[in-house]
Amino acid sequence: MSNKGTTVDDGEIAKLSEIIDWWDPTGGKKILHGLNKFSFSLAQKENASKPLANLKILDVGCGPGLLSEEYASKYPNKYDIVIASEVVEHVANVELFLNSCVDTLKPGGKIFITTANRTRLSFISHFIVIFLFEEVLRIFKKGLHDIKKFVTPDVTAMLNKNEEEINKHKMLKDVVWDPHGRCVTLHSLNHRRVPYIINGLISKPEIRKSPHPLADKKILEVGCGGGILSEGLAKVGAVVTGIDPCQELVDLAKEHSNIYPKVAENKPTYLCTTIEVHAQKYRDYYDAVIASEVIMHVANKDLFLKQCIETLKPGGKIFITAPNKTITSKIEIFMLENVFKGAAKGIHDYEKFMTPHEISRILEKNNCTVNNTHGLVFYPYVEIWQWVFFQSLWFALEATKND
Ligand SMILES: C[S@@+](CC[C@H](N)C(=O)[O-])C[C@H]1O[C@@H](n2cnc3c(N)ncnc32)[C@H](O)[C@@H]1O
Repeated sequence: MSNKGTTVDDGEIAKLSEIIDWWDPTGGKKILHGLNKFSFSLAQKENASKPLANLKILDVGCGPGLLSEEYASKYPNKYDIVIASEVVEHVANVELFLNSCVDTLKPGGKIFITTANRTRLSFISHFIVIFLFEEVLRIFKKGLHDIKKFVTPDVTAMLNKNEEEINKHKMLKDVVWDPHGRCVTLHSLNHRRVPYIINGLISKPEIRKSPHPLADKKILEVGCGGGILSEGLAKVGAVVTGIDPCQELVDLAKEHSNIYPKVAENKPTYLCTTIEVHAQKYRDYYDAVIASEVIMHVANKDLFLKQCIETLKPGGKIFITAPNKTITSKIEIFMLENVFKGAAKGIHDYEKFMTPHEISRILEKNNCTVNNTHGLVFYPYVEIWQWVFFQSLWFALEATKND
C-alpha cells in the first residue's frame, strides 16, 4: 500500500482546534460523552470486569497532532484494536486513512468505526447533522461538518482489499508485456475484446471502421493491471482511465504508455485505487466500464459491480470477460496454468469464479439490462481466441445502465 499523501485536511483541523469544551459532559461534546457510555455498555456484556484488559488499543484522531499514516509506518502490526470514532468525516483521504489504520493492526485485530452516514437522500444528513445538531440544538460547533465528506458504510470495502490477490498479481510485473509469456491470453484477447467493445458502443458501421472509432468515449478499465487492454482502447481513440489496487502494475502501465506513439499521444490515466474509492468521485461519468479478467479476483462481487455501475452515465455500458464457473473451465484453467503456461501458476481460484447468470442477476438488480453474452475459447499453441456458441469455458458480457 502506498503511504504517499496525507489524510489531514488543514481546514478540518483548524475548525476542530477551536473547540475548547471537550471535557464538559454537558457542553458541545456531550454527544461524544454519550457515545462512550454506549460502547462501554456493549463491552460490559461480554466480561464482568475490565473486559479490555491487556488489549493494545489505538484511538486514531483522539485529539490534535495524531497522524494515522505516521503511526502506521512506525507501528505496523502492533495493535489488537484500532478505533476511529467520529473521525472519518474529517479526513482528507479516507482510503489512505483506513488502510493506514489497518496497517497498525495485528493479524486478527479489529477496527471499529463510528461516523455520520451519507444517506442517499443527502438532505436527511444535512437536516439532522447540520440544521438540527449545529444550528438548533447547538450540540456541534457551527460549520464543523461538511456533508460532502460523509461516507456510507460501503466505505469499509476499502478495508476489503484482498492483499493476497494483489501480491499474486504483483509477481506478474516482469512478464505482463511479454506477448507470448504468462500473459499471452490477455494480449491475444485484445483481438476479440477491443472490437467487441467498439461494436457495443458504436452503431454506425462507417465509424466502427474508422481509425479512431472510440474517439471521445470516456472509458474506465477496472483492474487494468499493466495496461494491456487500456492501451488497446487508447489506440482506437478512447479516453481511458485505468485503475488497479496493485501499485507495481500501475507504475508499469504508466511506464509502458510512453513506448508506442499511438498510445503516447493518447495516454490512459492510470491510478492506483479501488473502484469503491473511484466511484465516490466519478458518479454517472463514464460511457463504458470494463472489467476484463478481474471479477474472479474480487472479494465482494456485489459491491464491486454496484460501484462499477455507479460510475456509468445512464445509457452507458459495462463489459465483462471472465472464465465461467464450470468443471470444463476448471480443467482448462489447470491446463493453461500448468501445461501450456499461458497464465501464472496459482493465479486463479476456482471457488471465486462466477457464471454469466450470476453476474447478470447482480447487474439487473442494479438497474442494468444485459444485452448479450458470448462464449470464448482460447487455443494455446496458436495463441488465438475464438468466439464460440457455448459459454462453458470463457464468456464476454455486455449490459446497459438504464436511464
Ligand atoms: C488478470 S489481470 C487483468 C488485467 C487487465 N484487465 C487485462 O485484462 O489486461 C487482473 C487484475 O485485477 C486486479 N485486481 C485484483 N483484485 C482487484 C479488485 N478487487 N479490484 C480491482 N482490480 C483488482 C489485479 O491487480 C490485476 O491487475
